[in-house]
Amino acid sequence: MLSWLMAKYYDPMLRDAETRCLQEWRKQLLQALSADVLELGSGTGANLPFYSNAVNRLVLTEPSKHMRKQLIAKSKEYSHLTVDIFDYEAESLPFPDSSFDAIVSTLVLCSVKNQEQALAEIHRVLRPQGKLIFIEHVIAKDRPERLKWQRRIEPFWKVLQCGCHLTRDTEKNILQAGFEVKNINRQSMRGVPPIARPTIWGEAIKV
Ligand SMILES: C[S@@+](CC[C@H](N)C(=O)[O-])C[C@H]1O[C@@H](n2cnc3c(N)ncnc32)[C@H](O)[C@@H]1O
Repeated sequence: MLSWLMAKYYDPMLRDAETRCLQEWRKQLLQALSADVLELGSGTGANLPFYSNAVNRLVLTEPSKHMRKQLIAKSKEYSHLTVDIFDYEAESLPFPDSSFDAIVSTLVLCSVKNQEQALAEIHRVLRPQGKLIFIEHVIAKDRPERLKWQRRIEPFWKVLQCGCHLTRDTEKNILQAGFEVKNINRQSMRGVPPIARPTIWGEAIKV
C-alpha cells in the first residue's frame, strides 16, 4: 500500500525540489554520459530527459512494481534511447564484472537495504575508471541541531518513505568502497523538509 502511494505521489512530492535544484544537477551530471550506462532505482524516470543519444545502452532497474509501471510508460517518450528495464535490487546485480562505463544513483543509496553491499556491487559491475554518478541526501554531519532532528525523525521517516534513511554517511561509504571522488558538491536540496536537505552530488571513479 505504502509503495503504491509513494509511486503515485512521488513526482508531485518532488516537484518543487526538481525546479529549484534537482533538474539542474541531473542535467549537469547526465548529459555528458556515453556508451553503456546502468541506472539504479530509476523510480518514475526523472533522469530520462537528460540522457543523450551518445548512450549506447541504458539499463534501468526499479524493484517497485508501481514505480516500474510509470517508468516503462515514460521510457517510451524517449525514442532516441535504447532502454532495458529490470526489477533488480542494487545489492544483487546479475551482470558480469566490468559491464558498464557509468552507473547512476540519484536518491537511491538512502533507500537500499544494505548500502555497503550495493556499493560493492556497483564497484564490481563498473569497468576500471568507470564513473559512479550520484545525487544523495545525507547525514547533517556539520549541523548538530539538524542531525538531532534527523535521528529523532528517521524511524518514522523510514516507514513512511519506503525505507529511506536520513543519516547515512554516503560520501564516506563511497570512498570506503574503492572509489576516488572526482568532483563533489555539498549543497542544500531546496524544496524538501530541512532534515532531508543536506545533499552530495557529483562523480566518483572506480580505482
Ligand atoms: C527516492 S526514489 C528515487 C527515484 C529516482 N532515482 C529519482 O532520482 O527520482 C528511490 C528509488 O529507489 C528504489 N529502491 C529502493 N530500494 C532499492 C534497492 N535495494 N535497489 C534498487 N533500487 C531501490 C525505490 O523503489 C525508489 O524507486
